[in-house]
Amino acid sequence: MRDHSEPIIPAAGKLGILIPGLGAVATTFIAGVLAVRRGGAQPVGSLTQMSNIRLGKRTENRYPKIKDFVPLAGLDDLEFGGWDVYEDTVYEAAVKAQVLDRALLDTIRPELEALVPMKAAFDRRFVKNLDGTHVKTFSTLYDLAEQVMDDMRTFQAARNCSRLVMVWCGSTEIYHELAPVHETLLAFEAGLHANDSHISPSMIYAYAALKQGVPFVNGAPNLTVDVPALLELAHETRTPIAGKDFKTGQTLMKTILAPGLAARALGVRGWFSTNILGNRDGLVLDDPDNFKTKEVSKLSVLEDIFRPEDNPALYGDIYHKVRINYYPPAGDNKESWDNIDLFGWLGYPMQIKIDFLCRDSILAAPLVLDLALFMDLAKRAGMSGVQEWLSFYLKSPQTAPGLRPEHDIFQQLMKLQNTLRYLMGEDLITHLGLDYYEDLMEAR
Ligand SMILES: NC(=O)c1ccc[n+]([C@@H]2O[C@H](COP(=O)([O-])OP(=O)(O)OC[C@H]3O[C@@H](n4cnc5c(N)ncnc54)[C@H](O)[C@@H]3O)[C@@H](O)[C@H]2O)c1
Repeated sequence: MRDHSEPIIPAAGKLGILIPGLGAVATTFIAGVLAVRRGGAQPVGSLTQMSNIRLGKRTENRYPKIKDFVPLAGLDDLEFGGWDVYEDTVYEAAVKAQVLDRALLDTIRPELEALVPMKAAFDRRFVKNLDGTHVKTFSTLYDLAEQVMDDMRTFQAARNCSRLVMVWCGSTEIYHELAPVHETLLAFEAGLHANDSHISPSMIYAYAALKQGVPFVNGAPNLTVDVPALLELAHETRTPIAGKDFKTGQTLMKTILAPGLAARALGVRGWFSTNILGNRDGLVLDDPDNFKTKEVSKLSVLEDIFRPEDNPALYGDIYHKVRINYYPPAGDNKESWDNIDLFGWLGYPMQIKIDFLCRDSILAAPLVLDLALFMDLAKRAGMSGVQEWLSFYLKSPQTAPGLRPEHDIFQQLMKLQNTLRYLMGEDLITHLGLDYYEDLMEAR
């Protein structure tokens, strides 16, 4: 809990956003911010830049932009850096990702070309379908983590940043479960010295960030910071963490639609979801071990929204299936289909079909921006550990141990907005309204 006697530290100076994995999402994010900075382009999909927030009673009519309400870093004060297993500059990687038009990229080409990835902390056992060679050599994993920390310090000094945040936009690592080395910080640090095979590259970056008090977000479904050892480190260094897996595309639709069906007490028998995508993410997910990590992340959503154990009549028999197929011609323009078998009054069946022709990285880029800015705010506000109020952005939200995640996007939004109100000393909004409603009626 934040101590209100301590003011939020102002967002003075530059904020460095460090990104392991400069692929489609990261390059779309960076190029997008630079394009917005130049003027003419709009940061659509970013709450921090484009959304308003209601304050006080409805009668007060106070509805400022979020960026005018909370002290966030401005877009002009952002610096970008990162690591990748390929040597491509951010310009080359963005061209290869084929998300943004070449004409747009060319307007900011010199700035993008100046962004050269640092050598990655990489282990092919965790991402089998990649063969990049722009990787660090090391003796122990501890040495590897120290090299990442050195990179961070060098970047911060060279770019004159007052603060850093790190957002993992690297490939999805293979599925692995909690091992003894993840249980305590002591065991984890011993594992770093002993090259424990259960420590993945994303954990090395997370350790390096948390050790230096730099907020860490995990945009992929890997375990990464969702282990007791790194949670312990986050508390020790008073650092905010958030994860896992950016909520875009199909899962975004699911967490919009499913709460609506549950709200109207409509039953669901089946929800079949399939996707085709042809970007590098799709290639990585073509490997069954990498897909398993994503599948676990995608499957948990409906169960938590419908709570079949509490409502077996409506949701007890739900069959939920998620498929992803790698299909190169689709590129980053993923197509996802959902078939929903639902039922209404007296059990009469109905169907909903969704065909979402989405653009994965276009949906993900604003999430990177908002998460980076809000995590920096959290740090300056003295918040640490899991930032559950940012579940809004995540497919598989990390929670305090033992708590069920909240997947309903509307509940998530309310929590996010109330957290901002709380931070700024505004009244929380319960939507009860009875207190002033009666006064209004009497005044008539
Ligand atoms: N695009 C979306 O809508 C979306 C949604 C949710 C999650 N994600 C996740 O975000 C991540 C990035 O997605 P993307 O479409 O940009 O994928 P991408 O394949 O284009 O980019 C990932 C990059 O990470 C690099 N990489 C892999 N391991 C690394 C390491 N150890 N260190 C440094 N770099 C490393 C790869 O070389 C690649 O360039 C993926 O894990 C994806 O599953 C994406």
